[in-house]
Amino acid sequence: MSLKQTFERNKDRRYIMFGGKGGLGKTTFSAATAFWLAQQGHKVLVFSVDPQASLSDIFQRDIFGKGAVKIIDNLYAQEIDADSHIKAYQEEIRKKILDMYGFDEIPEEIENYIQAASAEPAMEESAIFDAVVDIVVKGDYDYYIYDLVPLGHALYYLSMAKVYDEWINRITKLREEMREHEEMVARIKREKVTEEDQILGELQYIKNRINQSSSILTDKDKTAFFFVVVPEEMIIIDTEKAAELFAKFDVPIAGYIVNRVLPAELSSQDIPPYLQNRLKMQSHHLGEVDKRFGNQVIGRVPEMERDVTGLQMIEKLAGIMYG
Ligand SMILES: Nc1ncnc2c1ncn2[C@@H]1O[C@H](COP(=O)(O)OP(=O)(O)OP(=O)(O)O)[C@@H](O)[C@H]1O
Ligand SMILES: [Mg+2]
Repeated sequence: MSLKQTFERNKDRRYIMFGGKGGLGKTTFSAATAFWLAQQGHKVLVFSVDPQASLSDIFQRDIFGKGAVKIIDNLYAQEIDADSHIKAYQEEIRKKILDMYGFDEIPEEIENYIQAASAEPAMEESAIFDAVVDIVVKGDYDYYIYDLVPLGHALYYLSMAKVYDEWINRITKLREEMREHEEMVARIKREKVTEEDQILGELQYIKNRINQSSSILTDKDKTAFFFVVVPEEMIIIDTEKAAELFAKFDVPIAGYIVNRVLPAELSSQDIPPYLQNRLKMQSHHLGEVDKRFGNQVIGRVPEMERDVTGLQMIEKLAGIMYG
């Protein structure tokens, strides 16, 4: 089955991710796939949480932190600015504390706490996670292409859904137990507890959102996760290990795409021994890829004559990948 066929035969798969080690071509494939889908008449959002702003680089447009920016008809790109999301988060927490406790001003200790908490890496992760959930849950597009950061990290984001869920389950349960207890005390005192438990409501809201997004992530009918691999020994080994981990998080793997394949027709040309040797090595590694990943290998993408940046190159690559 080809890459194009996996799209044509699985029309309900609207969440697309390219994963893999650093620098193998995730952003390149995300952009080319987004371009092709947009050409087919689908409304597409390609987005990332990468502080390196690599979508800005590939589209040659400054889109960082600017929301969804239209690139061509049907094609939108978005780079989430985690810092500004953290600021918004802090503001929200401040507002909630003010509302909930009827303060006019945030007490200094609490302000210090908010500041300290936002310096935690977990705060950044959760701000990013929240932004991604926001985008996905809204449902404004036919296709969502999540341009992932390198493997280890991507796995972390994906596992966040599970960790969050677990955490919120526990807190929700605790709150429910506490409320039961409070109600009992109130009954004994013959007082009525009519006040809504704001925190519990809040937690249940978050939980629903996370359930919704994690069910999307792990639903093989809705989500396609492609591994990008190149024909090199270490990359093949690492990819195999990573695939096992992803399977543990129930992320459905839709296939492997081999990038940077030297054109085979080179070998019939008069080429220097250096290149001959590279070709020989590559053909061995391509065989290794096929051996390990078998019929899950759904595409080979050639090494282009130059870097893939700008719409012209993206279009050219899309033509090769999906033509
Ligand atoms: N088939 C190809 N032919 C030529 N250049 C390519 C090809 N695929 C990727 N590149 C180039 O390789 C570089 C890395 O690609 P890309 O940014 O897509 O990788 P990535 O997996 O997104 O990296 P990161 O892990 O840093 O996000 C880019 O300069 C890109 O233009
Ligand atoms: Mg990238």
